[in-house]
Amino acid sequence: MDDWIDYYDSTHTIYVSKLHRDLHFQIIARDIIGYIPSSDAVVLDYACGEALSANQVAAACGKLILAEPAPGVRGRLIARFAPNTKIRVRSLDDVREMQDRSIDLVVMNSVAQYMTPEELDGALLNIRRILKPSGKLVLGDILQPNVGMVRDVMALLSFGVRHGFLKDALVGLISTALSDYRQLRSRIGLQRYSEAEITAKLTAAGFVVQRAHTNIGHNHWRMTFIARPPLIR
Ligand SMILES: C[S@@+](CC[C@H](N)C(=O)[O-])C[C@H]1O[C@@H](n2cnc3c(N)ncnc32)[C@H](O)[C@@H]1O
Repeated sequence: MDDWIDYYDSTHTIYVSKLHRDLHFQIIARDIIGYIPSSDAVVLDYACGEALSANQVAAACGKLILAEPAPGVRGRLIARFAPNTKIRVRSLDDVREMQDRSIDLVVMNSVAQYMTPEELDGALLNIRRILKPSGKLVLGDILQPNVGMVRDVMALLSFGVRHGFLKDALVGLISTALSDYRQLRSRIGLQRYSEAEITAKLTAAGFVVQRAHTNIGHNHWRMTFIARPPLIR
């Protein structure tokens, strides 16, 4: 296994049970819907993963583009959402070819940590290009330098307690500790940014930045940022 895209294309144990996976995608979808500006908005979910609740997001906007780099995941997305005419599935190469100023909302949740800083810079510049002047990027689940793996474990366990899957969460943590995830996390690592560092990156890509009050998803130790093209007066 070479990188995190391969990992997400494999049969991984990041979701400890079907209930955990379903709840994860329901909460992400609810949070994305909260950012949709209007019922005709064009929304891009950048590296969306399995996006199991994408039908709900599509119902709240005009068009939903699901972009995903892992080819196996993308194949499943195409099959799963074929009946929904509001949903399009694309690769990240396709996103690089999209028209200037064509998207109202880009959500990139729980992705930046898997990218090299250079990959993230390239993606942010491209997103800035394809956003409408009135559009926004929501960059979620950013890991901070001073918050380690213990907080991730605590966040998963408390999510498990709240929703009745604590036993599965404990078993899942053990399988993850013995899996490729642990090896990749120590070999390649996860990218972490302080609030000042990610703000500087977004500003360099041409955005005006604001930190959201709450993170997308269930892990409140991580951060979400809202980035907009500057207003032209
Ligand atoms: C934790 S999942 C997040 C999925 C979804 N956005 C969510 O919030 O549930 C991480 C995603 O990042 C993608 N990914 C991993 N490495 C990447 C990279 N270097 N560049 C872009 N995407 C990457 C994976 O394919 C996967 O879809």
